[in-house]
Amino acid sequence: MTAGILLIGPLLRYAADPFATPWSDAVRIDTEGAVLLRDGRIAQVGQAPALIAANPQARQVRYSADHLICPGFVDAHVHYPQTAIIASWGKRLIDWLNSYTFPEEMRLADPDYAGEIAARYLDLVLAEGTTTVASYCTIHPHSVDAFFEAAAARGMAVVAGKTCMDRNAPEGLRDTPQSAYDDSNALIGRWHGRGRATYAITPRFSPTSTPEQLAALGALWQAHPGCLMQTHLSEQTDEIAWVRGLYPQARDYLDTYEAHGLLGDRAVYGHAIHLEPREIDRLSETGAALVHCPTSNTFIGSGLFDLAGLSARGVPLGLATDTGGGSSFSMLRTMAAAYEIGQLRGTPLHAAQLVWLATAGSARSLHLQGRIGSIESGHDADLAVLNLASSPAIAQRHARAADMWESLFATIMMGDDRAIADVWVSGRQVRARP
Ligand code: GUN
Ligand code: ZN
Repeated sequence: MTAGILLIGPLLRYAADPFATPWSDAVRIDTEGAVLLRDGRIAQVGQAPALIAANPQARQVRYSADHLICPGFVDAHVHYPQTAIIASWGKRLIDWLNSYTFPEEMRLADPDYAGEIAARYLDLVLAEGTTTVASYCTIHPHSVDAFFEAAAARGMAVVAGKTCMDRNAPEGLRDTPQSAYDDSNALIGRWHGRGRATYAITPRFSPTSTPEQLAALGALWQAHPGCLMQTHLSEQTDEIAWVRGLYPQARDYLDTYEAHGLLGDRAVYGHAIHLEPREIDRLSETGAALVHCPTSNTFIGSGLFDLAGLSARGVPLGLATDTGGGSSFSMLRTMAAAYEIGQLRGTPLHAAQLVWLATAGSARSLHLQGRIGSIESGHDADLAVLNLASSPAIAQRHARAADMWESLFATIMMGDDRAIADVWVSGRQVRARP
């Protein structure tokens, strides 16, 4: 057994869900904390003096009082193929897909380009302290191989799946019910549970699948119930009207999935802004997760997610950039946008709730709790270390902060990749800022 690596410094710890329990009981910061990393896992967590005494052989890495050791960020809904078209101007959802997204996704027909974008995307997010993502790929099976291979090369736990579309998408980006089934099935066999990979069956959304394709993917999920199923739900009002026209017998948008076997506790729906009461009831009964994508929702003009209301109904919630509909790769920026949307809805979120959502909440939405998202012994050693004084503007606010929470909040609201002092993936240091 190796002696391990002992990270010493202020440490973020979770005891409970800060949406179900008062945040001050659920989340705490140990100012003299320590965490022992060994063989890719978190071996011990506690107070620095005790861990130092118990592990005299361990290599020590010390972070000053201006830092905070956090779980690595978990981005629960992204489209890695959209990396190169992030921040494209002026469209709403359907026009944005047709004008920017589909032409770019077509370019990933070239396996070399898919590999280049997968590597570029993962390096960009690691620099932002994100250690796990759940990504849509393109309809091309090699786009899934490229992504899982790039993640494995970096030791990252990721979720991904082949995006399935058999209508309302251009020639070259359409599959069929049968090929979507067969290709996804082969990819599950190749990747699900291999190393740190999780497969998500991925119909893009109801408008780009026929009922036959949704049914085929529902059958595939039934055959592989350990996989996740990710898709989009009720992002914009004109999208919902379109769905109503395409599925006249459905009771609502969620019913287009439910009727085809695509609702269950391992379902993960992105956006979910404009929900009917029946949809909320069914989500709450089934344990399906919703993923809040705040920078995307303001950027594409979709609406204001009801985080407080849905969490009060017990729906598991994650947080995500929705790259490239979202306008940032950064989960700090994403937490800031979630705070701003909370303000517009009259329900401000505390820093402890924001950071929990970006780590443990997202991990739970992807059924990865117990492995990532929280600094606990036995978890995989995926960590992001924040510098709470990373720019002159933030440093002067940090100097005035009454406590670590005030300081963390300033970094959430104003921080960028300069605030990411260090990143550990599977116990390996992948980024260190001097
Ligand atoms: N709905 C269907 N596809 C997409 C996508 O790529 N991005 C966003 N934001 N919404 C979608
Ligand atoms: Zn999306």
